[in-house]
Amino acid sequence: MTTPQHPEDFLSSLRLRSAREDGVFWVDDQRLGIFEPEAARRVSATNWHHFVLQDRLVDMVRRRRSPEVRWSLIRSTWLTQLHTLATAQQHGLLIERMERVLDARAGQDTDLTMLMQDVALRSLLPVALGGLTGAEAELVRRDLEMKLSRLVSATPGGVLHHLRHVAVQVRAGLVVRRVLRQRARGRRGREPDLTDPFVDLLPELGMDRALDVVTTVLTAIGGPPGTAAASVLYEFVRNPEWQRRLEAELAAVDPVEFRTAPTRAAPVTHRFVKEVLRMWSPPLLLVRRSTFAFDLGRTRLEPGQWYLLSPHLIHRDERVWQRPDVFDPDRFLPGAPHGPANRTCYVPFGWAPKKCVGANVAVVQLMALCHLLCTRYRLTVPDPEAVTMALRFAPVPENFRGRLTFR
Ligand code: HEM
Repeated sequence: MTTPQHPEDFLSSLRLRSAREDGVFWVDDQRLGIFEPEAARRVSATNWHHFVLQDRLVDMVRRRRSPEVRWSLIRSTWLTQLHTLATAQQHGLLIERMERVLDARAGQDTDLTMLMQDVALRSLLPVALGGLTGAEAELVRRDLEMKLSRLVSATPGGVLHHLRHVAVQVRAGLVVRRVLRQRARGRRGREPDLTDPFVDLLPELGMDRALDVVTTVLTAIGGPPGTAAASVLYEFVRNPEWQRRLEAELAAVDPVEFRTAPTRAAPVTHRFVKEVLRMWSPPLLLVRRSTFAFDLGRTRLEPGQWYLLSPHLIHRDERVWQRPDVFDPDRFLPGAPHGPANRTCYVPFGWAPKKCVGANVAVVQLMALCHLLCTRYRLTVPDPEAVTMALRFAPVPENFRGRLTFR
């Protein structure tokens, strides 16, 4: 398997080949690229049809089957919990946590990409796993930050960094186990978070499977939300015209309505966020293993073979988007000729039935960030021309230095 050294080169070669080969082609001898919107939808829909959790460790050791738990149960449990958290009060708490991080850094010259990671992670951690002590939260955050730094770094960290990370990872895993156990025994309070429903499912899941479920959410909040927030800032800085439009809308918006239903209260800002997520969708590539055989026209995907999906490549495909490299939120106006031709063309949160469960929280958070940038702070970036977008595991703005000051 050969992969060009720079992710940017790899991705642009995929984009060129995708245009030539109708979006479905063997990237190398082991991985099929499925970058044609309808094929990506179809394979995703079937592949996870009967996806179940792995057996419990103890049962694997004893060579017996665990009670079967379907992934769809895990997802519906998350979605039910997120539905109860979709209130103005919870949105308000999320925004307050974002403010706290930003207030503490106001006035300082700072790396805005790192700041956005911090804002996203600190504000979302209580949604995933709340009620932690300061030391516990610090450990869980360190684990996620180390994971992320390996993914976004241009240079891999080396063996020592890897070993250090394994040690932190083990300790963070122990924190999650302790929280689950203590909540189950009534020694720790229950929290309105994405971990809590699994406390009641512990007998059925077992501790190691429950840990995997919580880790999936933690990993999900540790990467894409922060890079997406940095991309929002990036386009905000590059588009003064849109800054003014957002400021005009958000200065006039009713705060209660904004917390209750931000997409309805601020449609211009919603379009802006949607366009940022089209241009700069994290993660750039999803690697999946096929569990079924798929007939994809000129080629077949057999069970056990690997395939790649990419919201980013679909969003930059000239066959489905007009002028895909141009940033224009108004393409999301109803009926816009350069808008999405159909639902399969706009997939920043992936594909059913594995689609991101946190999509609504993510949009609320990014819109809240725009609100803060337009009403509470002023953003100054002394050298906007120096900022570039690096394509790593996700789009990551580089040389992004600046400062936020209070209005
Ligand atoms: C802008 C922010 C975000 C982006 C762009 C994003 C994107 C994605 C994508 C592309 C996937 C994979 C979907 C697939 O395999 O087809 C995913 C999965 C997931 N996301 Fe997000 N996400 C974001 C924020 C969040 C947040 C805030 C949460 C939690 C509150 C979350 C929770 C999850 C979970 C749990 C999964 C795994 C779903 C599963 O395996 O069934 N995400 N996300």
